[in-house]
Amino acid sequence: MEFYVTAGPGTEGVLRDELCELGFRSARLNHGGIPFLGDWIDGARACLQSRIGQRVMLVLGRTSARTLEDVYEACREVEWQEFLTPSQTFAVATYAHESCGENPNMVTLKVKDAVADQCRAVFGARPNVDRESPDVRIFVYWARERVTIYLDMSGEPLFKRGYRQSGGEAPLKETLAAAMLRLSGWDRSTPLVDPMCGSGTLVIEAALWAGNHAPGLWRKRFGFERWANFTPEMAQRMSRLRGEMRRGVAGQMPRITGFDLDEEVLKTAQVNAQAAGLRLSFRRMPLRELAADGTRRLLIANPPYGVRLDASNQLYQELANAVHRLHGWRVCLLVGNPRLQQAIHLKPEAEYALKNGSIDCKLLVYEV
Ligand SMILES: C[S@@+](CC[C@H](N)C(=O)[O-])C[C@H]1O[C@@H](n2cnc3c(N)ncnc32)[C@H](O)[C@@H]1O
Repeated sequence: MEFYVTAGPGTEGVLRDELCELGFRSARLNHGGIPFLGDWIDGARACLQSRIGQRVMLVLGRTSARTLEDVYEACREVEWQEFLTPSQTFAVATYAHESCGENPNMVTLKVKDAVADQCRAVFGARPNVDRESPDVRIFVYWARERVTIYLDMSGEPLFKRGYRQSGGEAPLKETLAAAMLRLSGWDRSTPLVDPMCGSGTLVIEAALWAGNHAPGLWRKRFGFERWANFTPEMAQRMSRLRGEMRRGVAGQMPRITGFDLDEEVLKTAQVNAQAAGLRLSFRRMPLRELAADGTRRLLIANPPYGVRLDASNQLYQELANAVHRLHGWRVCLLVGNPRLQQAIHLKPEAEYALKNGSIDCKLLVYEV
């Protein structure tokens, strides 16, 4: 079976590294996501273990398609009855490159028709559409006269780990936090600090990675566990896999600390960490008090950009001053506002282009 794990912009390389490290076969670098080969249980394992992947898709078919009718025919040929019965629900999402010359809504409608018509031909009835919580999520990608049909194995996107009880004002997606940690070059044993930790996403993801906790273990279920072909034997196999992963948790952990100015958001971080089964230290501390203490640490943070949270020049100057005090530390910042890089005025050791939602960001890595 062929799988495709979707990646946020700029995270493809680290996602490929992660999937290779996890032992997935033929994972290779590709723009937008990483394909790999395996059995259904490998797709399931990717849902449980990938920290960086956004969704795990199963490739159902790929063929040439020049017109909307060709897309319809390609989708009619899929044996949907294997995954979907009239008592279940489905949803369709599509991407049609502008060169296909079709309105994306029309493509979605056409795919829906093909699925419904094929089910009606087999069962005499069709499944309903449910956009909120469908049993089966179908994704169709149409570009350069090729159409690829996928089933989304993850269901809800994988950044929804299941441990988050609440967010702060501008929480990071867990998948982006995991990508930042890998791009920072963290060795998982150096002590780590997020001095603007908000609801704690970076420190929690760091602790899960360092402790070898599979990030999908808090999810009640994934999309494929609602498909018609998900048998009791497969459910048993999943429960064994979840058990193996629970037993794989490491005992030793580096010191991981979160600070923030806001007392309330720190309570949120504590609740989220506890829900993930972690005992992490969170403390109120303004940036201006952050100082080196003789231990080499990684500082990692996403400071406010001035989009969702206020970002004054004074705040950026405080952060720049803090960075200059941290001799011997490694510093990794997700910067969405060029004023911060100017204020720091050091040459980054590495620089990566990422996106936080719709905001273009740079991940800057410094050796101070
Ligand atoms: C963009 S948010 C971080 C979000 C966080 N990564 C998360 O996932 O929830 C920035 C955080 O910086 C904190 N902050 C702003 N000024 C600060 C200061 N001078 N010292 C410490 N924290 C500050 C805010 O309270 C806010 O929680």
